Amino acid sequence: MGRFTQRLVDRGFKYYGVDTSVGMIESAKRLNTSDKAEFIHSSHLPLPFPAGHFEVCLSVMVLQYLMQQRGEEGGNVFSELARVLSPGGQMLIIEQASASGMSSGTVKACSTEADYIEALSESFVVERVEKIRCARMTKLSSIYLRYGKSLPLKNLAIKFLAKQETRQALNADVNFLKGMDYYDICIKAIKK
Ligand SMILES: C[S@@+](CC[C@H](N)C(=O)[O-])C[C@H]1O[C@@H](n2cnc3c(N)ncnc32)[C@H](O)[C@@H]1O
Repeated sequence: MGRFTQRLVDRGFKYYGVDTSVGMIESAKRLNTSDKAEFIHSSHLPLPFPAGHFEVCLSVMVLQYLMQQRGEEGGNVFSELARVLSPGGQMLIIEQASASGMSSGTVKACSTEADYIEALSESFVVERVEKIRCARMTKLSSIYLRYGKSLPLKNLAIKFLAKQETRQALNADVNFLKGMDYYDICIKAIKK
C-alpha cells in the first residue's frame, strides 16, 4: 500500500490512504513519511470522510475483491466512493479483469471489464478504459500463490515469476486476452 502516494503528494495533493489491514497501513506509513500523507485503518463502510471531501479517489487492486459483495450488507462501495467525491471528481481504478474466466490466485471470483463499467455507471460517467498488462500464470506460480506461506523465498519467487509471466496489454484484442489468465485495467470515471 502507498505505492502511488509520493507521486500524488509531489503533484500537490493531500493524500489519505485507507485500508482494512493494520499491517498494510503500517507498511504504507514506513514507505511515506510526508506530512501531506495520512493513512487510516478502517474496516467498515461508510468511509470516515464527509460527503464531497475529495477531488480524486484512487483504488489500486482493492475493488477487485469487493465486486461480488456489492449490494450485500455493508453497502455498495462504489456509491460510497461517489459520496466522498466532490461533484465532477475523478475516480481512477486499477484492477484485475478477465476475459478467460480465470483470475490470479488472490482474486477468487474474477470480474470482466464490463462488470467494472456497470458497477461504476450508477454513480459515474466512465470516460476512459485502458488495458495495461496481462498475465498467464505458470504452474509454479499457481503453487506459490496457493501454498506460498510454507514455501522457501516466497516473496522473491512470486516477484520473479510475475515478471516472467506479465506482458503489455495496451491495445490487446479480446481473443489475445482470452488466452491470458487475467489482465489489469485502468479506468477513469467522473462523478455524475
Ligand atoms: C493487492 S492489495 C493492494 C494494496 C494497495 N492498494 C496497493 O496497491 O499497494 C489489496 C488490499 O485490499 C485490501 N482489502 C481487502 N478487502 C478489503 C475491503 N473489504 N475493504 C477495503 N480494503 C480491502 C487489503 O487489506 C489489501 O491491502
